[in-house]
Amino acid sequence: MATDNNKPKRRSQAWFGDEGKSGFIYRSWIKNQGYPHDEFDGRPVIGICNTWSELTPCNGHFRELAEFVKRGVYEAGGFPLEFPVMSLGETQIRPTAMLFRNLASMDVEESIRGNPIDGVVLLMGCDKTTPSLVMGAASVGLPTIGLSGGPMLNGKWRGQDIGSGTGVWKMSEMVRAGEMTQQEFVEAESCMHRSKGNCMTMGTASTMACMVEALGLSLPENAAIPAADTRRNRLAQMTGRRIVEMVKQDLTIDKILTRQAFENAIRTNAAIGGSTNAVIHLLAIAGRIGVDLKLEDWDRLGSEMPCLLDLQPSGKYLMEDFYYAGGLPAVMREVLQYLHRDALTVNGKSIGENIESAPCWNREVIHAVSDPFKTEAGIAVLKGNLAPDGAVIKPSAASPHLLQHRGRAVVFENIEDFHARIDLDELDVDENCVLVLKNCGPKGYPGMAEVGNMPLPTKVLKKGITDMVRVSDARMSGTAYGTVVLHASPEAAAGGTLALVRDGDMIELDVSRRRLHLEVSEQELARRRAEWKPAPKPKRGWYKLYVEHVQQAHLGADLDFLVGSSGSAVPRDSH
Ligand code: FES
Repeated sequence: MATDNNKPKRRSQAWFGDEGKSGFIYRSWIKNQGYPHDEFDGRPVIGICNTWSELTPCNGHFRELAEFVKRGVYEAGGFPLEFPVMSLGETQIRPTAMLFRNLASMDVEESIRGNPIDGVVLLMGCDKTTPSLVMGAASVGLPTIGLSGGPMLNGKWRGQDIGSGTGVWKMSEMVRAGEMTQQEFVEAESCMHRSKGNCMTMGTASTMACMVEALGLSLPENAAIPAADTRRNRLAQMTGRRIVEMVKQDLTIDKILTRQAFENAIRTNAAIGGSTNAVIHLLAIAGRIGVDLKLEDWDRLGSEMPCLLDLQPSGKYLMEDFYYAGGLPAVMREVLQYLHRDALTVNGKSIGENIESAPCWNREVIHAVSDPFKTEAGIAVLKGNLAPDGAVIKPSAASPHLLQHRGRAVVFENIEDFHARIDLDELDVDENCVLVLKNCGPKGYPGMAEVGNMPLPTKVLKKGITDMVRVSDARMSGTAYGTVVLHASPEAAAGGTLALVRDGDMIELDVSRRRLHLEVSEQELARRRAEWKPAPKPKRGWYKLYVEHVQQAHLGADLDFLVGSSGSAVPRDSH
């Protein structure tokens, strides 16, 4: 196929630019969708990587969103081609969406690399759909821009705002404590999620949308515009326009996802009171792009940052309020002194240029640095014999009086054991105990489920107690709260010390000293370790591959053979 010699040779021309049999095949089959011949003339081909699925309700509006991206791509002279990838619905998929994050990332990576694409738009929303797409795209390295689906409108029930997840945890505890009827509980179910979009608390989906924006991987305001607000569609159109320019400028993803960008994201996560899940996802993304990010960086960079955002689960408001108050640019402007202002973003400007004049319209929602919502609100990384490679806690979501605590362990061997015994009258537990849950880490569950925020025993709840220290190798939902120590590494299923804890052992938590200690002698631990037997491993399929290759939480829980990038070259033809 003849091309204009003045035009740069695009990657997609290795498919569409051929004059012989191969070019005929590559073009002709795509023409069956009605595209004219000049679409293949060397203009940027933009892949729209879509996680639409009716089983991922938070991404249920993505076909509509993709149409607005296409408008923008056409306006800028590009050729958009939408493609589906594995979509992970957090609330639906068993045993946990996290088990499939890395699988979805492989789908994304190979779908981008194997196809005639010059640049890619990532349509992301529900929790794992963001990290899986960014991880996959990072391992290819094309010009890449993110577009989030936006949060749902605030949940409304009986005159009050109720937030995704956070409201469920609260109300289910109220039902168990006899403070709410089952009928009221069911009524609230229909009122919480009343529009398209992702969870409207600062849960993992909204946190990761903020991380994408803070990393500079999306246009400004991407994180908070509600899905139902037409400004979301406008942003989609602008995103489509911009990716075409990014291809022309060869603005590849590695130029955006730098060490500086990750440091900005970690600090921003503290300022928004973001989810602990961001720790694992950013570590995994950094591993793909080749940035040397460590678990300890979260504590070093973020733990002394103030939290400015009064949003559930740590606070009161919801994402809709956040957008009307100014959204993420207003938060980032407020903490600009802590950020690398020169970090490049996808619109070709630095993050500093993007946010330096961002207004704040509501100081009750977005506090000033001089009057923070919470001080020292980042994620604390704990170490000790119970988690030699680290564990995390989100102090802003914890009870201040429990941040230094010593208590007797009440141990559950796995999630089934927990469900079977937590509400028994004969369970020997009180509010000073430490609930310990084993075998819920990456290999143990498998997939590191969000079960770390264990519900409290009914007999403790009935005393009016709402929080206890809890320790596990699991994650917790970004919408959850409490004095919950998570991601203990190595996990129990990998033979970590957590596997050796027994009922009655004393555990010391001291967040100010970053300490998580099991008061059992080394000799006794060695004796217990000699008795410990690992659980049988899965025998086939993805579970087997995953358990054999998943890394521990402090490394991001990626598969060992997926760390890094393979670039975008595929020299061998298919025919
Ligand atoms: Fe999809 Fe919360 S369940 S974003």
